[in-house]
Amino acid sequence: MKTYKIALIKGDGIGPEIIDEAVKVLDAVASCCDFDFSYEEALMGGCAYDITGDPLPQETITTALNSDAVLFGAIGGTKWDNLPREKRPESGLLRFRKELGVYANLRPAVVYDELVNASSLKPEVVRGVDLMVVRELIGGIYFGEPKGRDENRGWNTMVYTRGEIERIAHQAFKIAMTRTKRVCSIDKANVLDVSQLWRDVVTEIATQYPEVELSHMYVDNAAMQLIRDPKQFDVMLTGNIFGDILSDEASMLSGSIGLLPSASIGARIGVYEPIHGSAPDIAGQGIANPIATISSASMMLRYALGEIDAANKIDNAIKRALSEGYRTKDLAQYDAKEVCSTSEMGSIIANYSAKCKH
Ligand code: IPM
Ligand code: MG
Repeated sequence: MKTYKIALIKGDGIGPEIIDEAVKVLDAVASCCDFDFSYEEALMGGCAYDITGDPLPQETITTALNSDAVLFGAIGGTKWDNLPREKRPESGLLRFRKELGVYANLRPAVVYDELVNASSLKPEVVRGVDLMVVRELIGGIYFGEPKGRDENRGWNTMVYTRGEIERIAHQAFKIAMTRTKRVCSIDKANVLDVSQLWRDVVTEIATQYPEVELSHMYVDNAAMQLIRDPKQFDVMLTGNIFGDILSDEASMLSGSIGLLPSASIGARIGVYEPIHGSAPDIAGQGIANPIATISSASMMLRYALGEIDAANKIDNAIKRALSEGYRTKDLAQYDAKEVCSTSEMGSIIANYSAKCKH
């Protein structure tokens, strides 16, 4: 029997609670498949800083690199907001992504039929939305030099190289080939030179994927189109900061940011994490929605481990739990038959994952 080595990085805030539920579901699905998991925990974020003085201890990178995939919860909290930037939890996460080389961040936004009423948009606008934000994750203004601040000025640099744009564009086109074959590349080429390079390179790479239809959109327009008519999008290809913003916006189509997973992939180990943050205000209360993390575990099975059946089992179990009216507190107002805690939701999905037949 195959045993997959999974690095678990629970992190801060609600991170530990939601990871525990994803592990419950992974173990349940493994029990009816012919593989198994072994987990190794590693520290990152504020909790790592508190214990080691470093938000990303070297040992965490080693553990991640020795695993088949990383399942990550969330980091951050007001407690660490006043630390020098390099000690802040977020810096640990950015360094982690960079060290692992996970340049492509896939953030699907899918609207579950059962939750069309939960969106802040009209049901007819969101019903059937199924899009994927492909966000460049280890370049752009998050990492560009020079950066700094003094008393009266602060500066960052948005820079992309041809190579960085080419590899993320290839990812987007390849993903589009498995979907409805449309890529919309999002930039600010009317103002930024870096965006004009982005647009030119994406256009060049598109010639290698003649079946895929490429369009371009300015980011301000894209932000507007995403809520005007989200169904026009299939794959949205964009850089680091635009992708950060647009993926949060896209999450609202589905009704709760607590639903949306992500996969960060590159040449080596992938990192699978919910798109939401550590929500310190609700940590420890058992009310966080574990679905985004459980769904990230499903992406891990699909993309990192090639266990497609197992991933489908989890996806179907999530749909079943929602269609039967189980809701965590964030979605309690929307057609809930039963409001459940974080761990009850995890148990229900685990139970259904182990039983689903295909
Ligand atoms: C995300 C988060 C991170 C980011 C933060 C926590 C550094 O917002 O994963 O979207 O900006 O990338
Ligand atoms: Mg973000």
